Amino acid sequence: MQSALQSALGQTGIAMSDLDGLIAVPSLSHPHFMEAHYLATKIGMLPQNDVVVRTVDTGGASPITALLEARRMIMNEDCKAVAITAGDSVGSMDSDLFLERADAGCRPSHVKSGPQYLPSPVIPHGYSRVTEYHMEKFGTTREQLAMCSVLMSRQASRHPDAMNKTPYTLEDVLNPKHEVAPSVNLLECARRADGGAAIVVCSSRFLESRNLARKGNGGSGDVVILGGGEASGPLYPGPVIDETMFSCEHAAWNAFTKCQLEPEDIDWWGLYDCFPICLIRALEAVGLAEKGKGGEFVEKIYVETMNDPNYDPKIFPINTHGGLLSFGAPWEVPATYNIIEAVRQLCWQAGSKRQVSGARRALCYGNGGIFSASAVAILGRAVDERV
Ligand code: CAA
Repeated sequence: MQSALQSALGQTGIAMSDLDGLIAVPSLSHPHFMEAHYLATKIGMLPQNDVVVRTVDTGGASPITALLEARRMIMNEDCKAVAITAGDSVGSMDSDLFLERADAGCRPSHVKSGPQYLPSPVIPHGYSRVTEYHMEKFGTTREQLAMCSVLMSRQASRHPDAMNKTPYTLEDVLNPKHEVAPSVNLLECARRADGGAAIVVCSSRFLESRNLARKGNGGSGDVVILGGGEASGPLYPGPVIDETMFSCEHAAWNAFTKCQLEPEDIDWWGLYDCFPICLIRALEAVGLAEKGKGGEFVEKIYVETMNDPNYDPKIFPINTHGGLLSFGAPWEVPATYNIIEAVRQLCWQAGSKRQVSGARRALCYGNGGIFSASAVAILGRAVDERV
């Protein structure tokens, strides 16, 4: 977290001493009581009277919640420069310890049997239950789900920092030897990883006063947070899976309404994809596919990109970095990667293989637990938005 923060500050020309806000998200491998206070103390931001230090925990949605919180801290609490940090090392963590902690967080301890009981690994089994619900209700096929992992691996093969370097085939993903839960295979699990990330959010007044505003029209410029929405689902999937447990639809609707935008106004999408069903539900929730047709949407892109390794990023402007399935998933960090890729896309700095030409607005969605929290933020190029 510290090195990511230093790197982010170095790129923006903002000094550590300029920060008057810090948000951190909890770590599974190295948990600390009041994570943000712990980090603020380590980096010398505390003790000090005039700083706002806050730990945010909405699971995997945390970085998006934190982005919206940073905006509120600037708009309502007079902060001028707020850093968001996230870091974890679940990739190098002992597997038994990882599962002990991950399982404990997502399974109700009083349930010992019945449909609500989830065996270890609890998270893949929980998503497997939801996957089966979706397949049964909407006719989504097992192959369409596996295609999500293939597509993410194709995207990741274009990013130098992604964990998966080589695109999978459908057979790789569907290989029965890799079954983790009834409808989830190994290559359909968020890829455990070590990693950290940091984002700096500043008020326009502060940037202008320090001559740091980059309003350039070409390959740079600043990105603005246009707004967002959040919504919650139950901490654990109930005995019966139905539409009441999902919240991305509400979060996305709130975000579009607040920003007075429609799905057609978005050029790039960072959609949480810890398991294929999460991506498919997200495609439907944000309006890219009709309800129940997310699988068909994925299949169409799968076919379109199958024989052309050099496909135009505009054909599939979603998770151009490879998402949790293929870029890597350090527990609550990965939605931060969505935000970072969104910023690169909006600054037209994603490089020829990944850049969605002319991208002006991006939507980032984070999901916590097993559909327990949804946060959606919409970003735009400062040069285009009158804010
Ligand atoms: N893609 C490619 N390779 C993968 C992979 C993936 N998605 N997942 C694992 N592998 C590889 C590993 O790199 C490893 O390769 P090597 O042997 O070459 O090192 C091999 O497969 C075995 O992987 P693991 O060491 O992880 O195997 P394991 O048996 O110890 O555990 C598992 C397997 C139970 C599926 C475990 O990896 C797991 O639980 N994964 C899911 C992680 C998870 O649940 N993350 C949270 C998602 S939910 C969310 O994000 C919301 C939130 O609020 C946090």
